[in-house]
Amino acid sequence: MKAYQIRGQFGLDHLEAVDLPDPTPTAGEVLVRVRAVSLNYRDLLMVNGQYNPRQKLPLIPCSDGAGEVVAVGAGVVGTKVGDRVTSVFAPGWQAGEPSRAKLSTTLGGPVDGLLTELRALPEHAVAPVPAHLSFDEASTLPCAALTAWRSLVTEGQLKPGDTVLLQGTGGVSIFALQIARLIGARVIITSSEDAKLARARELGAAHGINRKTSPDWHKEARALTGGLGVDHVVEVGGADTFERSLQAVRMGGRVSAIGVLGGNSGPINLIPLLMQSIRVQGILVGSREELLEMNRAFELAKLKPVVDRVFELDQVREAFAHMAGGKHFGKIVIRV
Ligand SMILES: NC(=O)c1ccc[n+]([C@@H]2O[C@H](COP(=O)([O-])OP(=O)(O)OC[C@H]3O[C@@H](n4cnc5c(N)ncnc54)[C@H](OP(=O)(O)O)[C@@H]3O)[C@@H](O)[C@H]2O)c1
Repeated sequence: MKAYQIRGQFGLDHLEAVDLPDPTPTAGEVLVRVRAVSLNYRDLLMVNGQYNPRQKLPLIPCSDGAGEVVAVGAGVVGTKVGDRVTSVFAPGWQAGEPSRAKLSTTLGGPVDGLLTELRALPEHAVAPVPAHLSFDEASTLPCAALTAWRSLVTEGQLKPGDTVLLQGTGGVSIFALQIARLIGARVIITSSEDAKLARARELGAAHGINRKTSPDWHKEARALTGGLGVDHVVEVGGADTFERSLQAVRMGGRVSAIGVLGGNSGPINLIPLLMQSIRVQGILVGSREELLEMNRAFELAKLKPVVDRVFELDQVREAFAHMAGGKHFGKIVIRV
């Protein structure tokens, strides 16, 4: 089978196409013919050695993929040949609260991922594809969509009529926009580009703020709520944005700490956190049970993931470079 591995050392130049022996599913495993893989910012960090510099190489990157089951091992009961499935981001986290042990087997690092034609996985490491989705679309679900779902639904308990502030138009934020609209919440979204804000409005965002030309986007967001502050912020900017997120949220509101696109650390004024009784919740993707719950909701609503661009397997490096360039809107997919 053809696969891609980070070999020898980290960096996009060391992401190489290789021929590996076809895997055979052992007891409890299913063999998936991968048809599509979607990229997450984490995959880019992994390739560049910034996610876990101690990650052992070679590694097949990418946590998220979709394909069809072509063989099953002994004892597999709930999955059959021909089933369309996606990967599960953290197969050890089936349900409940996360733990170190449950998160020790995440795909695409530390364990081999999906950027390969064939992948043998434990049956509990796959989930059925919602019937209305193609492989390209379904490949986007395991990490980005589930992170947005856990943030707004499981932890956030978002309600119709709430106002959510989203940052940027990448994979997590666009899923958060779609989920917020599904629930009946109002969306305010920031972006570096007016053209992306226009697309976000087409998806149902009520207000778009250009974060480059309006660095006081937090004040604008607050003003849009009559000065009260938004109910929920989905925080992906990290050091760049965190303090302003605390200033945008209402008293008793929530901030989901998801990403650090603008840096891991920096000075921060903690006073609003106390004085406004803000609830900050760190989010790390979600469990398989939550993935199934989200998939049910997506299927019922016929919610379609937003795919920015589909690359072919021999364009893997271009696909990663496209993500690094930050010009995308929604998800980047590689067809396998
Ligand atoms: N905790 C978790 O479980 C989890 C799961 C998934 C992702 N993440 C993290 O969440 C972040 C987003 O991931 P993703 O896969 O959605 O990335 P992505 O698709 O690459 O999205 C990046 C987009 O965010 C916006 N952006 C970039 N820098 C920004 C900044 N400093 N402030 C505000 N917006 C900024 C840009 O959109 P515009 O051009 O429109 O502004 C950019 O295109 C990453 O840090 C990732 O590691 C965490």
